[in-house]
Amino acid sequence: MKTRPLIAVLGATGAQGGGLVRAILADPARTFDVRAITRRPDSPAARALATLGAEVAHGDLDAVASLDRAFDGAHGVYVVTNFWEHCSPERELAQAGNAARAAERARARHVVWASLEDTRRRVPLSDPRMPTLMGRYKVPHYDAKGEADALFAGVPTTFLRASFYWDNLIHFGLGPKRGADGALEFALPMGDRKLPGIAAADIGPCALGVFKRGEELAGQAFGIAGGHVSGADMAAGLSRALGEPVRYVALPFRDYVDLGYPGGHDMANMFRYKHDFNDEYRAAQSVERTRELHPGLLDFGQWLAIHARSIARLEAAAA
Ligand SMILES: NC(=O)c1ccc[n+]([C@@H]2O[C@H](COP(=O)([O-])OP(=O)(O)OC[C@H]3O[C@@H](n4cnc5c(N)ncnc54)[C@H](OP(=O)(O)O)[C@@H]3O)[C@@H](O)[C@H]2O)c1
Repeated sequence: MKTRPLIAVLGATGAQGGGLVRAILADPARTFDVRAITRRPDSPAARALATLGAEVAHGDLDAVASLDRAFDGAHGVYVVTNFWEHCSPERELAQAGNAARAAERARARHVVWASLEDTRRRVPLSDPRMPTLMGRYKVPHYDAKGEADALFAGVPTTFLRASFYWDNLIHFGLGPKRGADGALEFALPMGDRKLPGIAAADIGPCALGVFKRGEELAGQAFGIAGGHVSGADMAAGLSRALGEPVRYVALPFRDYVDLGYPGGHDMANMFRYKHDFNDEYRAAQSVERTRELHPGLLDFGQWLAIHARSIARLEAAAA
């Protein structure tokens, strides 16, 4: 049987890594073999990947020896950490460091690290516009990933910085809700600024595009987005998709915290960063450059057409 260069994929049972495993297996050129890494190889999600043709292997970002086994023989490694599982930036830093050192020991030729911006480069801790969180962060789930970039020194690494998943409207509770007058409202603390976003399922195919272009991309960063959409335009799209008017509410940053979403302070600071540094942030999230990695990239309208029924079902269940 013909063997191809192997990509070892962390987060394989999740949105980012799962999208990459499926993209590798669906690639008409079948450029790579794929090893799907999970803490639970017997889980239904892992078994589904094996059924599709992936090799499934055990690996835990907190257990260094398991990463050495999981990366053995890999040409490429996709590293993603899940901040929201533990909400500890220190643990995320340690996990990224564990993966970087294991990739180095395995002599991987190309690592793609699912990083995010370190917002402290533009907003020092002394900046009072947003509260400092957990002692030394402004946006913990961003800053720790950006800080971890340095841990990949010595490994040929491309930094892939995904923008806001539009799927947050479904899985993070950010979809439209009924206001006091019974009308649907879509609340986002972005004022009139445009928010770069992406279909979560498109991140994996973008990562495959990076691996295909290879080590020439080592040292480069890609902010990836399928569109830059204002809250008002998202509400207009939701109105069309749901067949009912949806009003945009430009939420004050502070009020976002009070809505009780997961990681409220962290997310409020993230939106403030994307609002206040909108030009700089958008410039780093080029849709054109993303489309070069993944020509099938969806825009917001296309994503909505696929997911409108899920959004409507959630809204109906909450009513
Ligand atoms: N939501 C957004 O808008 C957005 C945008 C950009 C970036 N992000 C970032 O995306 C990351 C999450 O990625 P995702 O959306 O793909 O997550 P996800 O769908 O929730 O899946 C999480 C994955 O991480 C794996 N995992 C967690 N802890 C692990 C560990 N200790 N060892 C090995 N694997 C572990 C899980 O694997 P098993 O359980 O099978 O082991 C699972 O496959 C977060 O850090 C978040 O900050 C999110």
